Amino acid sequence: MPENPDAIVYQLIGEDGFERLTTAFYRRVATDDILRPMYPEGDEALEAARLRLREFLVFRFGGPPRYIETRGHPRLRARHAPFPVDQAGRDRWVQLMEEALVDTALPAEAEKILRTFFHSTATFLINRGGEGGAGFAGSPQFPVRE
Ligand code: HEM
Repeated sequence: MPENPDAIVYQLIGEDGFERLTTAFYRRVATDDILRPMYPEGDEALEAARLRLREFLVFRFGGPPRYIETRGHPRLRARHAPFPVDQAGRDRWVQLMEEALVDTALPAEAEKILRTFFHSTATFLINRGGEGGAGFAGSPQFPVRE
């Protein structure tokens, strides 16, 4: 029995699944009117951010902990504090990730676990506008969030 029940995701989709998912997601971020302005200009900045998300997800869902080795503990709320994550930003992030999930066509079990994680974590990261954020109770999943 693995310590992290979500580790099944890495077993199902491997490096390739996370590579394709983050590529499909950031392809959309590149032209998004809410999200794109939060990142520095230039394709390199977006690609570097994509790789950080990919490495985080690989680690979080049972793959090699390269993210931890290079970035340390995720501290996702602290790392998002400089960016205005309000309800609209959260909803757009989730919408683009939903579209990326469709594009990527992962096995249903992996998709379900990822979807649950994305929805709850994105809500947890809201840091402007009053709702959600630190008060969010979330689901009692294996938590590497902050
Ligand atoms: C499930 C939800 C989310 C996850 C798992 C996630 C994950 C991450 C990770 C792992 C990083 C890199 C942290 C680092 O190592 O420095 C990051 C950065 C960032 N995130 Fe998120 N994030 C989520 C939601 C959001 C939302 C809702 C927004 C905005 C509305 C957002 C905007 C950003 C921005 C602008 C960065 C900086 C880009 C970079 O240089 O890495 N994120 N996110």
